[in-house]
Parts: sequence; structure tokens; C-alpha cells
Amino acid sequence: MDFKIYLKETKEEQKAFSEVLTHYFERGKYKNPRILNFLCGTANDEPFLMHYFHGTTRLISLDNCKHSERFAKKLKRKSFRRGDLLELKLQGKFDLIIGRNIPLNSNGHSPEQDYWPKVFNNFTNYMKKNAKLFLTLTKEEEFLRAKKILEGLNYKIIVKEKNKIRVPNSFIKTPEADPKDYYVLIAEAPEKLSS
Ligand SMILES: C[S@@+](CC[C@H](N)C(=O)[O-])C[C@H]1O[C@@H](n2cnc3c(N)ncnc32)[C@H](O)[C@@H]1O
Repeated sequence: MDFKIYLKETKEEQKAFSEVLTHYFERGKYKNPRILNFLCGTANDEPFLMHYFHGTTRLISLDNCKHSERFAKKLKRKSFRRGDLLELKLQGKFDLIIGRNIPLNSNGHSPEQDYWPKVFNNFTNYMKKNAKLFLTLTKEEEFLRAKKILEGLNYKIIVKEKNKIRVPNSFIKTPEADPKDYYVLIAEAPEKLSS
């Protein structure tokens, strides 16, 4: 897709997601937080995450797709890093780990092949004390699955609900298309980290 069209198409979505941040994260509460935005696509969230969290320069936007990387470069995103979620090699811990519209189905895999429990478990190694994991999902089935996995890992779930703010899907414009960020889950790191 042409990159000017891409910017135009995503404007409405970005505006709505800014409202979501305002709704769920008290402005000014986080001082220059360190943020990991995983499965970030083209790192389209970078400008408003930077803006909302006071120009933090400590954002890492992670995706494993070459095409996303090319687009992110064209868009002059500074935080994009190409890498695989299953082989995280990051330094230090984060205040906030964000995953928007993450594909949380198990695709018919057996429990051994289902990597999401491992991914969420591994995140606990990257979460500071009082860190938050902020997930959005487009489908109820994925929302329920994420909740179950996090509960099983002893995350403390503090928000689990349908998003009150409608975020349009900028690429699928049919009326029956799932809106983005339809369900929200916010969880704190498991107790073992809070010592
Ligand atoms: C549904 S998109 C969500 C993109 C963006 N967060 C949004 O809300 O528009 C999922 C993204 O996950 C990336 N992805 C899938 N598996 C991955 C993995 N194992 N490691 C890193 N990125 C992955 C894909 O390249 C894709 O950009």
C-alpha cells in the first residue's frame, strides 16, 4: 500500500487509540516509562505513545515482519526493532508491556505448540515491580483465553472488559469487521516480582 494512503487510513484509528490511553492510563502518573510494544506492526503507535508518556525515548516496538520494518523505516519510526517474540533478547525491565490486537488463537495447535503461555510467563522476567501488561484483543474467544492464561500464571488482573471506546479497523472497512482493541485486559506482574 502507498504510504501516504496508509497514513491517511490510520489517522482515525490513531485518534481513537489516543482516547483509549487517556481512559486507561492516568496522564502524568508514569514518568518517562520504559515501554515494550510487542507485535507492533509498523510501529504506528510510536508517535502517540511518545506524546502521551511525555516524549519517552525508552520505547521498543517489536515485530518480526520484514515488510513492517520497511514501512516503519519509511515512516521514520525510531523505536522499531525487528525480532521474534519467541526469542526475546532485550536488556533490562519495563514499566509497561503493550500488545494491541494480538492474535491469541492457538491455531489448532496442541498445548505443546501453543506458545502464548510461555510468552506471558517470559514477560514476567521483563517486568519491573508494579509494571503493567496492557493487552487488547479483537475477539471474545481470544480475550477469554488471554485472561485464563494470565490467571494461571498468577498475574493480578485489574481490568478485564469490553473497551468503552470504539477503535475503527482502518483496513477492513465492512460494517461487520471487528473493531480494533475491542477487549481490554490490564494485569500486574505476579506477586513473586513484588519483593
Ligand atoms: C494482528 S497484527 C497487530 C499489529 C498492531 N499491534 C495493530 O494493532 O495493528 C500482528 C503482528 O504480529 C506480528 N507477529 C506475529 N508473530 C510474531 C512473532 N512471533 N514475533 C514478532 N512479531 C510477530 C506480525 O508481523 C503482525 O505485524
